[in-house]
Formats: sequence, C-alpha cells, structure tokens
Amino acid sequence: MHDFRIKSGRLHCEGVALEALARERGTPLYVYSQHTITDHFQKLDRALADLPDHLVCYAMKANSNAAVLRLLANLGGGFDIVSAGELYRVVRAGGDPRRCVFAGVGKREEEIRYALEQGIYSFNVESAPEIGRINKVAVALGRRAPIAIRINPNVEAGTHAKITTGTYENKFGIAIEDVAAVYARAARLPGIRIRGVQMHIGSQITSVAPFVKAVKKALPLVKKLQALYNIEFFSIGGGIGIVYDPALESATPGWWRRNPKARTWLTPRRYAENIVPLLAPLGLRVLIEPGRFIVGNAGVLVTQVQYVKSTPEKTFVIVDAGMNDLIRPIFYDSYHQIVPLRKTRGTLVADVVGPICESGDYFAKGRRLAAVREGDYLALLSAGAYGFVMASNYNSRPLAAEVLVNGTRHAVVRERQTQADLVRGESLAEWLK
Ligand code: LLP
Repeated sequence: MHDFRIKSGRLHCEGVALEALARERGTPLYVYSQHTITDHFQKLDRALADLPDHLVCYAMKANSNAAVLRLLANLGGGFDIVSAGELYRVVRAGGDPRRCVFAGVGKREEEIRYALEQGIYSFNVESAPEIGRINKVAVALGRRAPIAIRINPNVEAGTHAKITTGTYENKFGIAIEDVAAVYARAARLPGIRIRGVQMHIGSQITSVAPFVKAVKKALPLVKKLQALYNIEFFSIGGGIGIVYDPALESATPGWWRRNPKARTWLTPRRYAENIVPLLAPLGLRVLIEPGRFIVGNAGVLVTQVQYVKSTPEKTFVIVDAGMNDLIRPIFYDSYHQIVPLRKTRGTLVADVVGPICESGDYFAKGRRLAAVREGDYLALLSAGAYGFVMASNYNSRPLAAEVLVNGTRHAVVRERQTQADLVRGESLAEWLK
C-alpha cells in the first residue's frame, strides 16, 4: 500500500497535490511519501515480531537521501551499506554505525579503516582475500574486526539476471561448500572476530520460495557455525519484491480481491510466515536488509510533457525526465506505471521518451496512456528505490530535486543541481590556459 492517490481528479502524495508541487518546485522532481516509508518499515518490523531479536537494516543503496535515512534511523532501523560513502551518509544523518552491516566485494583498505573507526556491527565478507585485508587493517588499528561471511547458496532467485546475486555465476559471497573452511581460517586471525553469517540472493523477488530454499539450504551450516564460533546473528539479506505494475490501482478498494496475481505476491506477512518458523529455533539475532520494499512504492518521479510528436509510425510523448534520472526501464526492462497528475479524457498509445541523445532513452514503448498534451505533468510510479541514486549527469543534465511529503507539508530534501554544480571540480589543464 502507498500514499499516492487520486483525489478530486488530482494525483496526491498524502495531502499534497502533485501538480501544484511540480509547478512550485519544477521538474523532473522526485517525491517521497514519509507515511509510506514509515508504514513499510513498520510492516516488516512487526511481521518479524516473533523473532524477538531482529534488526531491519535498510539497504540504503535503494535511496540514500539524508531525510530518508534520518526517518529510518528514528524508526529504529539499522543500515546495510556498501561503501565508506554510504557509512558517511548514515553518520551524517544521525544513524548508528553500530547498527550497520558493510557488504560489497571490493572494500578498499581506507573504507575498512573508516568502518572500523566508526564501530560498525559487522563486515559482510565476500571473499577469502578480503578477510586477510580486514585482518591486516584491524591489527594495525589494534582492533578485532567483527565479520560475517556472505554465503553464496547457489539458489536461483527467479528475478532479472542483472539483479540475481546468489548463484555461482555471480561475483557475490563465498560458495556454500567452501564457507566452513574460510571461517576456520578466519578464526585463527588475530584481527578478526566472527560475529555472524549472511546471505542475499537477489532483488525484486516476488515469491517466497527462493527465500525458503536458500534459508533451508544454509541452515545446517548456520547451526554448525553457531556450535563452533558462537555466532550471534544470521542476516538473510534483502530482495523482497514490490508490485510495479498496478501500483496505483492497489489503492482502490477491492482491487486486491479482483487481481488473481495478488494472491501469490510476497507480503511481509507471507514472508514472515514462511521464514520465521525456520529461523526462530536457532535463537540467533536475525537481520534482514530490505531496500526496495521500504522505499520503492514510496516515491514517484514527476515530469512535464515537452512535446507530443506524431509520425506516421508512432507517437512520442517527450518528457523532461530522461534515462539519466531513472535508468531502470532501459537497464532492467523494468515497468513503471505512468499516470497523469490530473484526470484527462481519452487515451493515446505512445512511446514515452526523454530528451537524451540515445535511442534507449525511454520509459515506455507503445504504452496506452492518458491523452496528454504539451505542458501536462506525468508521474512515473514506484520510483522511490534505485531511482535518484542511479541518476547521472549524462548530457550535462543537472540532477533532479527531491521532496519529502509528510501529510500536507513538504520539504525539499535535495536541491535541484545548478549548471555551476555540473562543472564543480573541473579545471583546465595548465597548458590550455
Ligand atoms: N543486501 C545486499 C547485500 C544487496 O546487495 C542488496 C541489493 C540489498 C540487500 C537490497 O535489495 P532489495 O531489498 O532492495 O531488493 N538497481 C537494481 C537493484 C540492485 C540491488 C542491489 N543489491 C534495480 O533497480 O532493480
């Protein structure tokens, strides 16, 4: 459920009409609903209530805006981080490093040092050489680094190839068969303290089966590690998928019952009902690392139609957001619902494209849309996760602004970039002056 709804013919985010907001703040504009983020966090947190010691570590790569981080920190969340930059953001937003787990296959020495100095909860280690490096840095600092090894369980997540992470085709984690031996070596290192075990099999997973399969496969190993090293936590990663397709309809009464697909969709309840009974007997602290589930449907990208260009072959609706603002459709063939901010009569079939000089710069192809005209506004739904964070300055386009809505209030939580921002840090070579 989310808080983007049509009221009196206008799309609202909570109590704020998006068209008025777009006029005031300009486009392209990312808009996030505080209530939705809170609701999604709490739904997951409550679903895990039967695991008394659990921690929701928000995968902040999904959306790392400071206001979003502060909100989740205030709700008691921890963070799944993948770089020193992400840890810096957490600290700056008032989050607690002791609730941070640090994943990623390429941790640099200085990143490890910074994370140790900040006192993170655990390094989620992705290779044997990484343990050696963490050990070296920890010894130099006179510390013991808390670690968990990321198990690669070799389980298909049934999602897009680019966001599958738990098979031997992928660079992530250590093959499940080899994990015990790597722990044994790690246990002998003076700078290492074994704290837990982790896995993450992929993203946008829409059924519970892959999670169950991976957890079941890992359980014997986890029990062994518990006996050998008295580990305190098991992180089962993130990956809970969201509904991209009928996101808006889901806000209409009765939709849930009418849509047959909805019966198998992954909800926090269904996830917990299947996972908790497997994990509870361990008596370990359980971590989950959801990103998309918390923020995905809590954000939209608002854009303005610049031109409607009709050719004998097709119609192009040309908008002022581009693939530099939201790369998911071209990168993952992903579907984002596109709705007008104001009710219109009639429909048209069009490609919705951006201004960038690439044929791949589109949000939809041959999509039936509300009949929009130049100057109208559209919202690309479900853009709260992996939206702004994957944006670039390609074609020298300033990054969009971000707004957080709370009831009838809103705040610009990131200013739109200026042209001066585009060239910040650039300089002429001495010999060109
Ligand atoms: N934990 C780890 C170690 C991860 O690598 C990820 C995501 C997560 C948790 C969170 O996964 P989530 O709950 O959000 O599915 N850019 C892609 C998604 C990449 C996901 C990368 N890792 C997209 O736009 O679909």
